[in-house]
Amino acid sequence: MKFFVDTAEVDAIRELFETGLVDGVTTNPSLIAKSGRLIKDVIKEIADFVPGPISAEVAATDAPTMIKEGLHLSEIGSNIAIKVPLTFEGLKACRALSDRNLMVNVTLCFSANQALLAAKAGASFISPFIGRLEDIDEDGMGLIEDIRLIYDNYGFETEILAASIRNGAHVKNVALAGADVATVPPQILHDLVKHPLTDKGLDAFLKDWESTGQVILSKE
Ligand code: E4P
Repeated sequence: MKFFVDTAEVDAIRELFETGLVDGVTTNPSLIAKSGRLIKDVIKEIADFVPGPISAEVAATDAPTMIKEGLHLSEIGSNIAIKVPLTFEGLKACRALSDRNLMVNVTLCFSANQALLAAKAGASFISPFIGRLEDIDEDGMGLIEDIRLIYDNYGFETEILAASIRNGAHVKNVALAGADVATVPPQILHDLVKHPLTDKGLDAFLKDWESTGQVILSKE
């Protein structure tokens, strides 16, 4: 499973990118607003060091303007995935942009039928929102499973990009359900590394090592 980082904070992406864990980045209008920066500056800065897909979302709600905005955003770099909402107009824009060989990420997906339509409209990525479904007591993980089955039944190549991930259990469960990508806030990626037994074991190793009086690198 690929990991995208779900943020518009460039320093946080850079730190994680150095670990080799980051395959791409997703942003949305709320994340851009939180960064306090201009969308084109943020996306350009990220696209300059992350080779994988960088999602940049359109702001229009009618297809002709979404297409114009998408074409404009796609000029930032060859790795831009244009994000459009899962509306009728968004699907029209998806078809027009993917027909121009541009990557399209169809976002705000909350049902398997919506995901089926996005795949038929040529989406490169479909973004089902797990956390927001659970917020209203619906089954986010079941949605990932359903989309996986539908896409496999018909050989759709649209990648399932599990979004609105709120914790480590979400990451594990979307991986088990066969998501192609999980887009994860930076802090959750950091948290995935942690285990109390790792810390406890490392403390014991360090104490025992100190008791040997040895050094691996001698001081020169
Ligand atoms: C990513 O593409 C989505 O915009 C993001 O994961 C939404 O997450 P949220 O529901 O925590 O805002």
